[in-house]
Amino acid sequence: MIIVANWKMHPGTEREALRLFEATKKIVAARKGVTVIVAPPALYIRACAAKRKGLFLAAQNATIEDDGAHTGDISFTQIKDAKATYVILGHAERRACGETDEQIRAKVAGALRAGLVPIVCVGESIRDENGAQFDTVRSQLRAAFAEVPAAKVNSVIIAYEPVWAIGAAKPMNPRDMHEMSIFIRKTLIDLYSGGQKPVKIAPTILYGGAMDASHVKDMHEGGDVSGFLVGRASVDATTFSELIKSI
Ligand code: PGA
Repeated sequence: MIIVANWKMHPGTEREALRLFEATKKIVAARKGVTVIVAPPALYIRACAAKRKGLFLAAQNATIEDDGAHTGDISFTQIKDAKATYVILGHAERRACGETDEQIRAKVAGALRAGLVPIVCVGESIRDENGAQFDTVRSQLRAAFAEVPAAKVNSVIIAYEPVWAIGAAKPMNPRDMHEMSIFIRKTLIDLYSGGQKPVKIAPTILYGGAMDASHVKDMHEGGDVSGFLVGRASVDATTFSELIKSI
């Protein structure tokens, strides 16, 4: 089971970040079989990494270029140098700032080249009874995997996060997630079926959006997912501890 703790822009100081990181470490140490990847604000990655025993670190975004005149951006090389091993790409909150599928395509390829594991977020803003969500997710996946060679397809983690569930009161229902998991696998199988050598498609699919302890069991059993991308419930040691205990 993989849990990505997406701290977003919390907490306000490095001291608090290290306190939360230490608490997270204790919570996770008591649980076997759970891989926890903490994605703090980039400024805290290095300090957390120095104390990372038992946890992994992710950046919340990166730029495509390796260096140069890109004020305010951070590169994959810098992320690696700070000792993160994962990078979240295409989060809905980045897409809302104007990030395009085209940029995400280049970022996924760049992350793999740099030796980082991309955690690619996909998800629709609205669902309708005609299945508009499937068109959205298919085109996001096609773009994200456009430059991913067959040998690397299973190295990319996919976080399905319906935009309407992020920050909401409750997650989507597990049956709909199960359907989406099948759809994601089928889309990747279709994408990679034309090659010379058959590829075994076994993607790691996470669910994200309003996850907390009370929904872990149902979503894990019913949603056909390998884990969760957790926002709010990961920035408070009590709610995170409850979530990890519920696994
Ligand atoms: P949430 O955020 O768990 O607070 O809904 C999830 C996310 O955006 O990663």
